[in-house]
Amino acid sequence: MAIRRLSPTLINRIAAGEVIERPASALKELVENAIDAGASDIDVALEQGGIQLIRVRDNGRGMGPEDLALCIERHATSKLADDDLLAIHFLGFRGEALPSIGSVARLSITSRARGAQAAYQVRVDAGIVSEVTPAALSDGTLVEVRDLFYAVPARLKFLKSPRSELNAAIDIIERLAMAHPDIRFRVSHDGRMLRDFPALTQDWLIAAPQRLEKIIGQGFAANVSPVDATREGIHISGFAGLPTFHRATAAAQYLFVNRRPVRDRLLLGVIRAAYQDLLARDRHPVVALFLEVPTEQVDVNVHPAKSEVRFRDAQLIRGLILGALKASLAEVSQRAATTVAATALHAFQPQGAASYGYGFSPAPRGGFAAPAAMLWRNETALAPQHRAAMQEYAPAPTSVPLSAHPLGAAVAQLHSTYIVAETADGLVIVDQHAAHERLMYEKFKAELTRDGVARQALLIPETVTLSDAQAERVLARAAEWAQLGLVIEPFGESTILVREVPAMLAGSNIAQLVQDLADDLSLYEDGLALADKLEAVLSTMACHGSVRAGRALSSAEMNALLRQMEQTPFSGQCNHGRPTYVSLKRSDIEKLFGRR
Ligand SMILES: Nc1ncnc2c1ncn2[C@@H]1O[C@H](COP(=O)(O)OP(=O)(O)OP(=O)(O)O)[C@@H](O)[C@H]1O
Ligand SMILES: [Mg+2]
Repeated sequence: MAIRRLSPTLINRIAAGEVIERPASALKELVENAIDAGASDIDVALEQGGIQLIRVRDNGRGMGPEDLALCIERHATSKLADDDLLAIHFLGFRGEALPSIGSVARLSITSRARGAQAAYQVRVDAGIVSEVTPAALSDGTLVEVRDLFYAVPARLKFLKSPRSELNAAIDIIERLAMAHPDIRFRVSHDGRMLRDFPALTQDWLIAAPQRLEKIIGQGFAANVSPVDATREGIHISGFAGLPTFHRATAAAQYLFVNRRPVRDRLLLGVIRAAYQDLLARDRHPVVALFLEVPTEQVDVNVHPAKSEVRFRDAQLIRGLILGALKASLAEVSQRAATTVAATALHAFQPQGAASYGYGFSPAPRGGFAAPAAMLWRNETALAPQHRAAMQEYAPAPTSVPLSAHPLGAAVAQLHSTYIVAETADGLVIVDQHAAHERLMYEKFKAELTRDGVARQALLIPETVTLSDAQAERVLARAAEWAQLGLVIEPFGESTILVREVPAMLAGSNIAQLVQDLADDLSLYEDGLALADKLEAVLSTMACHGSVRAGRALSSAEMNALLRQMEQTPFSGQCNHGRPTYVSLKRSDIEKLFGRR
């Protein structure tokens, strides 16, 4: 077959294949254009999840008739002033969103340039462009996309139900709205108003959390810790959800690079690494992180829908975010999610009572009296290595009243499972198993960092066959993994030989481990996966070794546990992200009884 040049419409449809995947992606392009046009009010109307109609109305700077004629041409943009792809100051820059949409749908754009006397309209129907004609519009731009993909029926088959297309569209708007609290956003569907985010005129630092709370939902503001760090001109700010405030999917992880919503593998991997030993593997934290990077240090031209970016110095970014998240989480490590306390308290509440917010202040670290004797009954039930890990503690000096400690003095054990303690300003209920498990785990982890990883050579080295790409990635980590006790070397094409393994992992399925690590590498590109595995093992050991629910404890034992929790980082939740204690303030108890 002879080579021929493709028609412009076909070229645009091929571009649409990459950029416009579903109504939500068309909507994203239109709303980003409105933001780029400096709009302060963006109104979105959808029909049938956007499949039938997407309408975006903005009050931005608008376009005159010449620009209207150009804007639907491929590779026509007003956003690359210096032809410099590393100086991108707008969300758009490719100059292909509108022609792509026009090639697969019925597109109409009506616009009035700011200060102009008249408005104009241009239409594109499945790639056929109409003349620019006079039209009526008071200001800004109105874009309508009808019957998306009607010109490419094959694409229609991939669309989901209007309901799930709508949900994807709302998610897009919410992400853009989070990064732009100064803009009002409204979304209606089939005539019903679904979202209305009023413009917040305060400082970004005040406005952003307000809008986040509105989008992420109640409890967000009370269950997050602020993140704020700068290194070499790169700034990270935002919020890290408490580990006890987790979700079933990573959908509530909102990431922005220079106010552009992204779903970036590097960033998702860093988040996972920061929370890895605070959450069960199948639970996901809630985070909203805004990264500000000088434009020349980040390439946004790596993904057709611009949802991924590439950093010039990925290690710098990774270290900055990991450090900032860990510091933020350490700050609040002894705080349990308020939703937990609020839920607990709700059960007590008389019908119709108002709900309160519960703030927990982290216990001050250090400065506590030595823990009282911790004599575990039934010690024989513990495996020897765990018993060895348990220490005996000197009795507490009596000078400090126990209620002066943040977690107070134990007054009772309920159902052989919960410790009730009286604190200076309320009461605390501790889940003894969850709490002890965390203490054990932190202790194991400290040992690991202090003494390093014990290795064990395999009598018969194990071979693992991977894909070429995976083998290459895995071998690139060989030096790093050797430090963690996993010694590998190449063994013919795409096969890896495992010579030594961390002693803690001896006897486990090594081929599976290496395969998992390889998968993790391709998913997250993060070198912490092995450390992650080790800590998962620690976590399992801690769980088995810790004091069970259902074991009766003496008062000295209970107090010792409380004192240890006060001294241990991250003791506010167990390894699976469940809280280890809930705390009620005296004032809250008084409210329950109508004393306040
Ligand atoms: N709502 C709007 N208000 C004002 N001008 C607009 C609007 N939408 C589009 N334009 C103009 O039309 C041009 C083309 O838009 P289009 O979305 O196709 O490309 P782009 O935004 O430049 O780049 P990208 O393809 O990356 O989105 C823009 O550069 C802009 O000048
Ligand atoms: Mg655009």
